[in-house]
Amino acid sequence: MTQDEMKQAVAEAAVEQIKSKLESESIVGVGTGSTANFFIDELAKIKHTFDGAVASSEATADRLKQHGIAVYDLNSVNQLDFYIDGADEFNEKFELIKGGGGALTREKIVAAVAKTFICIVDETKKVDLLGEFPVPIEVLPMARSYVARELCKLDAEPIYRDGFVTDNGNQILDVHDLEIEDAVALESKINNLVGVVTNGLFAERSADIVLMGTQQGVEVLTR
Ligand code: A5P
Repeated sequence: MTQDEMKQAVAEAAVEQIKSKLESESIVGVGTGSTANFFIDELAKIKHTFDGAVASSEATADRLKQHGIAVYDLNSVNQLDFYIDGADEFNEKFELIKGGGGALTREKIVAAVAKTFICIVDETKKVDLLGEFPVPIEVLPMARSYVARELCKLDAEPIYRDGFVTDNGNQILDVHDLEIEDAVALESKINNLVGVVTNGLFAERSADIVLMGTQQGVEVLTR
Protein backbone atom coordinates (compact mmCIF):
# COMPACT_ATOMS: atom_id res chain seq x y z
CA MET A 1 0.00 0.00 0.00
CA THR A 2 1.33 3.46 -0.83
CA GLN A 3 1.22 6.31 1.68
CA ASP A 4 -1.65 7.87 -0.26
CA GLU A 5 -3.58 4.59 -0.15
CA MET A 6 -3.13 4.51 3.64
CA LYS A 7 -4.38 8.11 3.85
CA GLN A 8 -7.41 7.17 1.75
CA ALA A 9 -8.09 4.17 4.01
CA VAL A 10 -8.00 6.26 7.21
CA ALA A 11 -10.21 8.88 5.60
CA GLU A 12 -12.82 6.22 4.86
CA ALA A 13 -12.43 4.81 8.39
CA ALA A 14 -13.01 8.27 9.90
CA VAL A 15 -16.26 8.67 7.99
CA GLU A 16 -17.29 5.19 9.16
CA GLN A 17 -16.55 6.23 12.78
CA ILE A 18 -18.73 9.33 12.70
CA LYS A 19 -21.49 8.67 10.20
CA SER A 20 -23.92 6.88 12.50
CA LYS A 21 -23.53 9.69 15.07
CA LEU A 22 -24.24 12.59 12.72
CA GLU A 23 -27.64 14.26 12.75
CA SER A 24 -29.21 16.75 10.38
CA GLU A 25 -28.04 19.67 12.58
CA SER A 26 -24.49 18.34 13.17
CA ILE A 27 -21.46 20.46 12.34
CA VAL A 28 -18.14 18.67 11.76
CA GLY A 29 -14.74 20.20 12.53
CA VAL A 30 -12.35 19.60 9.65
CA GLY A 31 -8.56 19.78 9.67
CA THR A 32 -5.96 20.71 7.08
CA GLY A 33 -3.43 18.83 5.00
CA SER A 34 -3.23 15.98 2.55
CA THR A 35 -4.85 13.40 4.85
CA ALA A 36 -7.61 15.84 5.77
CA ASN A 37 -8.19 16.40 2.05
CA PHE A 38 -8.86 12.68 1.56
CA PHE A 39 -11.28 12.92 4.49
CA ILE A 40 -13.10 15.91 2.99
CA ASP A 41 -13.62 14.02 -0.26
CA GLU A 42 -15.07 11.06 1.67
CA LEU A 43 -17.20 13.31 3.90
CA ALA A 44 -18.73 14.86 0.80
CA LYS A 45 -20.29 11.49 -0.04
CA ILE A 46 -22.51 11.75 3.09
CA LYS A 47 -23.05 15.53 2.99
CA HIS A 48 -26.85 15.13 2.98
CA THR A 49 -26.71 13.61 6.51
CA PHE A 50 -25.34 16.65 8.39
CA ASP A 51 -25.60 20.44 8.35
CA GLY A 52 -22.06 21.63 7.60
CA ALA A 53 -18.51 22.07 8.78
CA VAL A 54 -16.10 24.37 10.54
CA ALA A 55 -12.79 24.63 8.67
CA SER A 56 -9.32 24.93 10.22
CA SER A 57 -7.91 26.84 7.22
CA GLU A 58 -8.88 28.77 4.13
CA ALA A 59 -7.71 25.84 1.96
CA THR A 60 -10.01 23.45 3.81
CA ALA A 61 -12.91 25.90 3.61
CA ASP A 62 -12.40 26.16 -0.15
CA ARG A 63 -12.34 22.37 -0.60
CA LEU A 64 -15.45 21.91 1.55
CA LYS A 65 -17.31 24.58 -0.42
CA GLN A 66 -16.26 23.03 -3.73
CA HIS A 67 -18.04 19.89 -2.54
CA GLY A 68 -21.15 21.89 -1.64
CA ILE A 69 -20.65 21.52 2.11
CA ALA A 70 -21.70 24.62 4.10
CA VAL A 71 -18.84 26.20 6.06
CA TYR A 72 -19.69 27.94 9.34
CA ASP A 73 -17.79 30.49 11.40
CA LEU A 74 -16.82 28.80 14.66
CA ASN A 75 -18.40 31.66 16.61
CA SER A 76 -21.81 30.74 15.28
CA VAL A 77 -21.55 27.11 16.36
CA ASN A 78 -22.59 25.90 19.80
CA GLN A 79 -21.40 22.35 19.62
CA LEU A 80 -18.88 20.36 17.61
CA ASP A 81 -19.04 16.65 18.25
CA PHE A 82 -16.04 15.76 16.11
CA TYR A 83 -12.80 17.26 14.86
CA ILE A 84 -10.97 15.18 12.27
CA ASP A 85 -7.43 16.06 11.29
CA GLY A 86 -4.03 14.65 10.42
CA ALA A 87 -0.73 15.11 12.25
CA ASP A 88 2.95 15.27 11.52
CA GLU A 89 3.86 13.02 14.49
CA PHE A 90 2.02 11.27 17.31
CA ASN A 91 3.20 9.36 20.36
CA GLU A 92 1.62 6.70 22.56
CA LYS A 93 -0.17 9.34 24.66
CA PHE A 94 -1.72 10.68 21.43
CA GLU A 95 0.23 13.91 21.86
CA LEU A 96 0.90 15.42 18.45
CA ILE A 97 3.09 17.70 16.45
CA LYS A 98 0.99 19.57 13.90
CA GLY A 99 1.40 22.59 11.68
CA GLY A 100 3.49 21.26 8.82
CA GLY A 101 0.97 23.04 6.62
CA GLY A 102 1.02 26.14 8.81
CA ALA A 103 -2.59 25.91 9.96
CA LEU A 104 -1.77 25.03 13.58
CA THR A 105 -3.53 27.91 15.33
CA ARG A 106 -6.94 27.44 13.75
CA GLU A 107 -6.50 23.67 14.08
CA LYS A 108 -5.83 24.00 17.80
CA ILE A 109 -8.85 26.25 18.27
CA VAL A 110 -11.24 23.89 16.49
CA ALA A 111 -9.74 20.89 18.32
CA ALA A 112 -10.30 22.69 21.64
CA VAL A 113 -13.99 23.11 20.92
CA ALA A 114 -14.66 19.58 19.68
CA LYS A 115 -15.86 16.86 22.01
CA THR A 116 -13.92 14.16 20.18
CA PHE A 117 -10.71 14.68 18.23
CA ILE A 118 -10.09 11.88 15.75
CA CYS A 119 -6.56 11.98 14.39
CA ILE A 120 -6.06 10.34 11.00
CA VAL A 121 -2.52 9.31 10.14
CA ASP A 122 -0.50 6.72 8.32
CA GLU A 123 1.97 4.60 10.23
CA THR A 124 4.94 6.79 9.24
CA LYS A 125 3.70 9.41 11.75
CA LYS A 126 4.10 7.18 14.85
CA VAL A 127 7.09 8.00 17.07
CA ASP A 128 8.38 7.04 20.52
CA LEU A 129 9.58 10.55 21.25
CA LEU A 130 8.12 13.66 19.60
CA GLY A 131 10.51 16.07 17.96
CA GLU A 132 12.15 14.61 14.92
CA PHE A 133 9.63 16.66 12.94
CA PRO A 134 10.36 20.34 13.73
CA VAL A 135 7.74 22.02 15.90
CA PRO A 136 6.07 24.89 14.01
CA ILE A 137 5.45 28.06 15.98
CA GLU A 138 3.18 30.82 14.70
CA VAL A 139 4.53 34.23 15.70
CA LEU A 140 3.47 37.80 15.22
CA PRO A 141 5.87 39.15 12.56
CA MET A 142 7.48 41.80 14.81
CA ALA A 143 8.26 39.19 17.49
CA ARG A 144 9.93 36.64 15.20
CA SER A 145 13.58 37.40 16.03
CA TYR A 146 12.90 37.79 19.74
CA VAL A 147 11.08 34.46 19.92
CA ALA A 148 13.84 32.82 17.88
CA ARG A 149 16.48 34.07 20.34
CA GLU A 150 14.46 32.74 23.29
CA LEU A 151 14.16 29.35 21.60
CA CYS A 152 17.93 29.23 21.07
CA LYS A 153 18.26 29.45 24.86
CA LEU A 154 16.48 26.07 24.96
CA ASP A 155 19.27 24.70 22.73
CA ALA A 156 16.79 24.46 19.88
CA GLU A 157 17.26 25.65 16.31
CA PRO A 158 14.43 27.82 15.00
CA ILE A 159 14.27 28.21 11.22
CA TYR A 160 12.15 30.97 9.70
CA ARG A 161 9.70 29.55 7.14
CA ASP A 162 10.70 32.18 4.62
CA GLY A 163 7.93 33.60 2.44
CA PHE A 164 5.12 31.78 4.23
CA VAL A 165 2.24 33.79 5.70
CA THR A 166 -0.40 32.05 7.80
CA ASP A 167 -4.14 32.50 7.27
CA ASN A 168 -3.94 34.87 10.26
CA GLY A 169 -1.28 37.07 8.63
CA ASN A 170 1.56 35.79 10.81
CA GLN A 171 4.86 33.98 10.32
CA ILE A 172 6.16 30.51 11.21
CA LEU A 173 9.34 29.37 12.94
CA ASP A 174 10.07 25.66 12.46
CA VAL A 175 11.95 24.59 15.56
CA HIS A 176 14.44 21.75 15.29
CA ASP A 177 16.22 19.87 18.08
CA LEU A 178 13.71 20.58 20.84
CA GLU A 179 13.89 18.15 23.74
CA ILE A 180 10.30 17.03 24.20
CA GLU A 181 10.29 14.85 27.31
CA ASP A 182 7.26 16.64 28.77
CA ALA A 183 5.14 17.85 25.87
CA VAL A 184 2.44 19.46 28.04
CA ALA A 185 5.00 21.56 29.94
CA LEU A 186 6.90 22.54 26.79
CA GLU A 187 3.71 23.49 24.96
CA SER A 188 2.80 25.84 27.77
CA LYS A 189 6.34 27.25 28.12
CA ILE A 190 6.59 28.14 24.43
CA ASN A 191 3.10 29.62 24.40
CA ASN A 192 4.15 31.88 27.27
CA LEU A 193 6.78 33.62 25.13
CA VAL A 194 5.36 36.99 24.24
CA GLY A 195 4.66 37.23 20.52
CA VAL A 196 3.90 33.53 20.11
CA VAL A 197 0.37 32.95 18.81
CA THR A 198 0.57 29.23 19.42
CA ASN A 199 2.85 26.26 18.83
CA GLY A 200 2.34 22.96 17.05
CA LEU A 201 2.52 20.76 20.13
CA PHE A 202 -0.96 19.36 20.72
CA ALA A 203 -0.41 17.88 24.16
CA GLU A 204 -2.74 19.78 26.50
CA ARG A 205 -5.53 18.89 24.09
CA SER A 206 -4.27 15.64 22.56
CA ALA A 207 -6.22 13.37 20.24
CA ASP A 208 -8.93 11.09 21.64
CA ILE A 209 -8.78 8.45 18.93
CA VAL A 210 -6.06 7.75 16.38
CA LEU A 211 -6.91 5.97 13.15
CA MET A 212 -3.61 4.71 11.80
CA GLY A 213 -3.23 3.42 8.27
CA THR A 214 -0.83 0.47 8.02
CA GLN A 215 0.13 -1.99 5.32
CA GLN A 216 -2.32 -4.44 6.92
CA GLY A 217 -5.24 -2.00 7.16
CA VAL A 218 -6.50 0.67 9.53
CA GLU A 219 -5.83 0.32 13.25
CA VAL A 220 -8.23 2.07 15.63
CA LEU A 221 -6.15 3.23 18.60
CA THR A 222 -7.90 4.36 21.77
CA ARG A 223 -6.53 5.34 25.16
C1 A5P B 1 -1.50 21.36 8.85
O1 A5P B 1 -1.09 22.58 9.38
C2 A5P B 1 -0.98 20.23 9.66
O2 A5P B 1 -1.19 20.30 11.01
C3 A5P B 1 -1.41 18.89 9.12
O3 A5P B 1 -2.51 18.37 9.82
C4 A5P B 1 -0.29 17.97 9.26
O4 A5P B 1 0.84 18.63 8.74
C5 A5P B 1 -0.51 16.65 8.56
O5 A5P B 1 -0.53 16.86 7.19
P1 A5P B 1 -0.57 15.67 6.16
O6 A5P B 1 -1.85 14.96 6.36
O7 A5P B 1 -0.48 16.36 4.83
O8 A5P B 1 0.63 14.82 6.43
